[in-house]
Amino acid sequence: MAEGLEGVVAATTRLSHVDGEAGRLTIAGYAVEDLAPHASFEEVAYLLLHGALPAPRERTRFVEDLASRRALPAAALHVLREAADAKAQPMDALRMAAGLLTLRRAGDPLDEAMTAIASFPTIVGSYWRMLHDDAPAPVRTDIAHAAHFLQQIFGGEPPAERARALETYLNTVCDHGLNASTFAARVIVSTRSDVISAITGAVGALKGPLHGGAPGPALDMVFEIGTPDRAEAVIRAKLDRGERLMGFGHRVYRVRDPRADVLARAAERFYTSGGDERLYALAQSVEASALRLLHERKPERRLSTNVEFYTALLLHGIGFAADLFTPAFAVGRVAGWSAHCLEQLREGRLIRPQSAYVGPTDRHYATA
Ligand code: CMC
Repeated sequence: MAEGLEGVVAATTRLSHVDGEAGRLTIAGYAVEDLAPHASFEEVAYLLLHGALPAPRERTRFVEDLASRRALPAAALHVLREAADAKAQPMDALRMAAGLLTLRRAGDPLDEAMTAIASFPTIVGSYWRMLHDDAPAPVRTDIAHAAHFLQQIFGGEPPAERARALETYLNTVCDHGLNASTFAARVIVSTRSDVISAITGAVGALKGPLHGGAPGPALDMVFEIGTPDRAEAVIRAKLDRGERLMGFGHRVYRVRDPRADVLARAAERFYTSGGDERLYALAQSVEASALRLLHERKPERRLSTNVEFYTALLLHGIGFAADLFTPAFAVGRVAGWSAHCLEQLREGRLIRPQSAYVGPTDRHYATA
């Protein structure tokens, strides 16, 4: 039996391939470092949903269709207001509102997928503003997806270089093999349930710190360390206490996560053109110390930097608070979840593994 299904192949997919030994991520045929920094998010979403990049006319139609689905159902806005009053975590609010997208589109899987992809930035942005006693920003249809996400959070006119950095991030995390949240989505839809239910379940799976919840704590560690000379001692103490270093290690990668490279380059561009260069240098020295000490402690496990470490740095540079990091991950990954749902519905069987029973067998129910 493979604990945690490690190494088990449980689906065939045309969407992405993670080569953990070589440190390569291929998204529908394109290397992540080729696609993510250059393509628009809409192109990447189209690629995942339809299997090829769009021709110019298809692209225009797709961009317009996606933009037309950005407004939320009234019930979702109502629930977000209630959640903001209760100071719910943004990921919980996203899960609550995602479930209500059924009210807008139900029945056709592609239609549901498009609505979910288009709505996620509106949900996250509206909720963030409500949580900070602000009215949701008006939904716009005349700007691109990544820019709209920024506008939904910060209002006003989204700066082009921030929108590009965010778009690179969203593209980088759009899909990643059979990770836990994608698997959860495929399991749900494999019962012939609907795409919105599957995506809602995937949001729940993404929230945990062993999956999408790591970048906040990763940035906390960088701030806690504060100056490069403290990195070694602080990290050593964490490992002595048995803590895991957030932003390091991966179930599949045995070398550096290629997404970390794409995001490190985007972060470097961003920080060296007017950002906090000191913070970028600090993060680099934290990374170097962490790698050295992880190698010292667990040479056989080959622990390296994962996507979350530079996610934290890039999103912080763009102006996102740490509580927005995991919701931003969901805004990118919902494209992959959607495409996996469509693929599973088209080609997959009911996912129903077995368990090895290790409980007692000799008990008897005593009747009174
Ligand atoms: N810091 C310290 N020790 C670690 C770390 C880490 N980041 N990652 C793994 N280890 C140790 C772990 O304690 C274990 O030691 P032992 O055998 O003595 O118990 C050994 O290495 C093997 O760990 P594992 O639990 O078998 O590894 P896994 O494949 O189940 O876990 C992981 C992968 C990502 C959950 C884990 O590396 C981790 O907890 N990392 C920190 C959290 C994090 O950065 N998560 C984001 C993952 S990337 C986003 C995504 O693609 O979803």
